[in-house]
Amino acid sequence: KPHATLIFSRHGESQWNVDNRFTGWVDVDLSAKGLGEAKSAGGLLKSEGIKVDMAFTSYLKRAIKTCDLALEAADQLHVPVTKSWRLNERMYGALTGLDKKETVKKHGADQVQIWRRSFDIPPPDIDESSEFNPAKEYAALNKADIPKTECLKDTIARVMPFWEETIAPALKSGKTVFVAAHGNSIRAILKFLEGISDNDITGLEIPTGRPLMYKLDKELKPISCDEAIAPLKFGKYLGNLDEIKAAAEAVKNQTKVAAPAAGGGDSKIM
Ligand code: 3PG
Repeated sequence: KPHATLIFSRHGESQWNVDNRFTGWVDVDLSAKGLGEAKSAGGLLKSEGIKVDMAFTSYLKRAIKTCDLALEAADQLHVPVTKSWRLNERMYGALTGLDKKETVKKHGADQVQIWRRSFDIPPPDIDESSEFNPAKEYAALNKADIPKTECLKDTIARVMPFWEETIAPALKSGKTVFVAAHGNSIRAILKFLEGISDNDITGLEIPTGRPLMYKLDKELKPISCDEAIAPLKFGKYLGNLDEIKAAAEAVKNQTKVAAPAAGGGDSKIM
């Protein structure tokens, strides 16, 4: 029997999603389309009759604004919102700021897929002197907590303490919780919640601005759902499923480049 409800939404489309650049901890704003996606997400909460008790988001404006715009569209701006850097996007290391397709042309599709989706192989560290090094902006954190790069395993290690200490207790008390976060911080929590294997998690893509709802029992075990999109078994996307599948496919294809013509074309570095 459902005890609590948990709804995730990745932020709406950001300007660097439009530009197809690796973003991570860079504080990029929503695009015009992203603003609309955030409002639509809130509209879906409203039309489903969901009353949110508590919301959680990251320190990054694309998620914070998504949280706010969604709650506003749901006519629930009174909801208390807690922000944590632990819900930030995975830190993209030396890839931060680079064009995703150019990176494939330079390093090859296999290497970029490993950096992007492998469970435990992070991209190289961000350069200390990079304009995207978050050390200054996050100077209030313990130095050891500021990542230089992260794979999903590392992201899980910093997201889950916030889950354990803050989100899980709210759910245990039967609350309806909204989490506006990022593709890979959501993937981190879903791996745990859905019990997805290290291998299968590589195939999970999260589209922007689409509410994903879980009904949980008292032990916070998710209750299964017929309409879950593989590899998910328990989560239910609100909205048009064909559109959501296409949007997830588009995330996957952000690194898809046309195969080089036979006998010529791209030279691989690695
Ligand atoms: C980014 O940080 O670039 C995106 O928000 C997530 O990117 P990914 O889907 O390439 O991991």
